[in-house]
Amino acid sequence: MLEEETDLWRIILLAFLVFLGVSVSVVLGDSLDWDTAVLLNLKSFLEESNQVNRGHYSEWNRESSNPCDWRGITCNYNRTRVTGVNLSGNDISRTMFQNFSALTELSHLDLSANTLGGQIPPDLSRCNNLVYLNLSHNILDGELNLVGLNKLQTLDLSKNRIGGEIRTSFPAICNSLVVLNISENNLAGSIEDVFNPCKKLRYLDLSENDFSGNIWKGFGRLQEFIISDNHLNGSIPASSFTVNCSLEVMDLSGNNFSGQFPGEISNCRDLVVLHLWGNNFKGPIPPEIGSMASLEALYLGNNSFSRDIPESLLDLKNLIFLDLSRNNFGDEIQETLGKFTQVKYLLLHSNSYTGGLYSSGVLNLSSVVRLDLSFNNFSGPLPFEVSRMPSLKYLIFASNQFNGSLPLDYGDFPLLQALDLSFNELTGTIPSSLGKLSSLLWLMLANNQLVGEIPPEIGNCSSLLWLNLANNKLSGHIPPELANIGQNAMATFDSNRQNYPPFSFVYSILSRKTCRSLWDQLLKGVWLFPICAPGTLVRTNQISGYVQLSGNMLSGEIPSEIGKMHNLSMLHLGVNNFSGEFPQEIRELPLMVLNISDNRFSGEIPWEIGEIKCLRNLDLSRNNFSGNFPTKLNNLTQLSKFNVSYNPLISGVIPATGQLATFEEESFLGDPLLDLRSFPNQPVSPSLATFEKESFLGDPPLILRSFPNQSVYPSANTTRSGTKKPSNFSDFLVLFALVLAFLTFGLFSFMLFSSVKCRSRLFWKR
Ligand SMILES: *[C@@H]1O[C@H](CO)[C@@H](O)[C@H](O)[C@H]1NC(C)=O
Ligand SMILES: *[C@@H]1O[C@H](CO)[C@@H](O)[C@H](O)[C@H]1NC(C)=O
Ligand SMILES: *[C@@H]1O[C@H](CO)[C@@H](O)[C@H](O)[C@H]1NC(C)=O
Ligand SMILES: *[C@@H]1O[C@H](CO)[C@@H](O)[C@H](O)[C@H]1NC(C)=O
Ligand SMILES: *[C@@H]1O[C@H](CO)[C@@H](O)[C@H](O)[C@H]1NC(C)=O
Ligand SMILES: *[C@@H]1O[C@H](CO)[C@@H](O)[C@H](O)[C@H]1NC(C)=O
Ligand SMILES: *[C@@H]1O[C@H](CO)[C@@H](O)[C@H](O)[C@H]1NC(C)=O
Repeated sequence: MLEEETDLWRIILLAFLVFLGVSVSVVLGDSLDWDTAVLLNLKSFLEESNQVNRGHYSEWNRESSNPCDWRGITCNYNRTRVTGVNLSGNDISRTMFQNFSALTELSHLDLSANTLGGQIPPDLSRCNNLVYLNLSHNILDGELNLVGLNKLQTLDLSKNRIGGEIRTSFPAICNSLVVLNISENNLAGSIEDVFNPCKKLRYLDLSENDFSGNIWKGFGRLQEFIISDNHLNGSIPASSFTVNCSLEVMDLSGNNFSGQFPGEISNCRDLVVLHLWGNNFKGPIPPEIGSMASLEALYLGNNSFSRDIPESLLDLKNLIFLDLSRNNFGDEIQETLGKFTQVKYLLLHSNSYTGGLYSSGVLNLSSVVRLDLSFNNFSGPLPFEVSRMPSLKYLIFASNQFNGSLPLDYGDFPLLQALDLSFNELTGTIPSSLGKLSSLLWLMLANNQLVGEIPPEIGNCSSLLWLNLANNKLSGHIPPELANIGQNAMATFDSNRQNYPPFSFVYSILSRKTCRSLWDQLLKGVWLFPICAPGTLVRTNQISGYVQLSGNMLSGEIPSEIGKMHNLSMLHLGVNNFSGEFPQEIRELPLMVLNISDNRFSGEIPWEIGEIKCLRNLDLSRNNFSGNFPTKLNNLTQLSKFNVSYNPLISGVIPATGQLATFEEESFLGDPLLDLRSFPNQPVSPSLATFEKESFLGDPPLILRSFPNQSVYPSANTTRSGTKKPSNFSDFLVLFALVLAFLTFGLFSFMLFSSVKCRSRLFWKR
């Protein structure tokens, strides 16, 4: 009886609850049907604003199945409510859907890696059940206000254009926050006290914004603290490194921090990465660092640390990466450095060292994979001792005063991928033994005094994609074998993909993440910008290289074998003594840049150049071309720089319409027989007709370093969106200009100077 009664009460209670539930669901939309309706609204919103490229949401369909089975949708355990929407990388553009809050149980929302713009709609702040929100890699702007999202554990807004201060949202929404990534935005203001109440925060990435003022003192309780590339200043308080410091990664690079760096850092026993590059730290390198047994990477470059390197650092058994570049050390390399037998990446560039190469013993470090001694004042012969460093992959001696000839032994590095000896005083010939370097990707010997011919054996360098021999005194013909370089770089790229070093070799000097990822891409053979197959504007995603031979005394004809170089997107042969007809096989190359100015090429300009549809930069000036100007060049719709000046024998008509008409007179100087229809009122100065070709021969190399010219790539500076969407035209220009800069300055020298703001210094000129 008593039991029956309770049962009855139970039934009544249950009925009441069911009734309550129904009425609530009517008010709040508390059912799967309701969620389905919202999702279908979302679908039509997305289809409306994305007419062409559509993602998998297009398959969502009320008839076909339960929404819990739709791609990108997750439901709760008993499949009664939608809890997750993942539309990452679905080609979504325009603005955000304004009604996510109608999905009242939504806890995971991922719209990352799209092209969403505009502000984050206020509706999103009403999604109070959100635990995970990822809007990274979009172009969202406006200011940040997410007040209301009190359950958030993970918030990723990185790589957007969000501006203003962060005070409105933090600490307001940080009750549960564990991961916060707002890197690569335009956020500003102070961070000094905003995160104090965020007790659960473990991962904080604020890098690449405009934050200023002092550091947040409470960072010691995080696991990762990344604040690189902001404008923070002041000193780092010792009190931040409490005895229970749990930091594993700390990156303060690219700020204006000053003072001594506190030895209390050694309280952070689990620290793996300590990144202090590019600040104004002075005084001693704290010897206490030597007790942090897990440390793998120590970046101290570009500061003003004092010269003594504490012996205690030798105890760091796991240290792989040591960057002591740009600290004004001068004099001899410290002897301690020769004892770091565990280190694989040793960066000592830009220190004005004059000696100590041998006495320090750095040339006996058999584990070193990357040795960078560039931008110092070393002189004398190149050390052949490096050939005893069997692990070397990147050997960078650029911008010193090394003289004498290139040791034959430099061909004995089976693993070498980059050899940069440019901007030295090297003499003698290029040894044919370099042809044994089968893993070599970069050979940079520019701006030396090298003489003799280019050895045909270089053609055996089957990985070599980037060859720069500019501004030497090389003579003789281009050996036809040279066309074989870079025919099979895949083997090297594959080994880099499988065996990628934990810290890429450029990490320390390119602190901008975008630049790092650029280099990661390069080393793995991932294309940077698309190239065109011959005869079409169809772009393919393939990595391409360059050959830069300008400013030498090379002569003879260009071998027709050049047509085999299907990986070449830039060819620079200017300021040499090449002669004869220019080979029509050039049409086979996916070129973006062709510069053959200042030579003695004769005969007709090959009309086949008009078939290289993606050509952007064509310089034929100061040659002896004759005959009719090939109007086929008017098909080069991508051409942004063109010069055919000072080919006095060239005749014909430049069409008044089309691509060629977009160029100024400056592109057609000294061509008296050329009819410039597009400049009817500005006849070319008659005096120029009297110029003989001979008057230009043997001119010392002109402004060889003025290339590339900023004015040609105006849009390259205008976007912050970086490398995230290389198909985007202006991003493509940025990458393209970057490679152009390598072409001129040499890979590594360029990188050194691009250190802090890779992007803004793309056009840096020496
Ligand atoms: C949001 O979605 C619900 C359910 O589809 C609908 O009733 C409501 O009108 C929508 N609100 C807005 C602002 O679109
Ligand atoms: C956010 O999305 C991006 C791109 O899809 C992804 O790489 C990243 O790991 C996500 N962030 C978090 C914190 O899960
Ligand atoms: C933050 O986001 C950026 C860009 O998406 C990413 O590169 C970085 O690794 C993220 N930071 C952390 C700590 O995960
Ligand atoms: C770490 O230690 C400091 C004092 O040194 C203390 O105030 C703080 O509560 C400790 N934090 C944790 C997470 O134990
Ligand atoms: C230029 O070419 C013409 C023939 O087209 C030739 O007669 C002349 O010698 C050449 N001049 C030079 C400087 O090579
Ligand atoms: C073309 O080359 C000539 C000769 O080097 C130079 O004077 C002229 O300024 C160049 N024109 C352009 C548009 O760069
Ligand atoms: C071609 O090379 C010469 C010599 O290096 C340089 O002066 C000229 O500006 C280059 N032309 C173009 C179009 O970049």
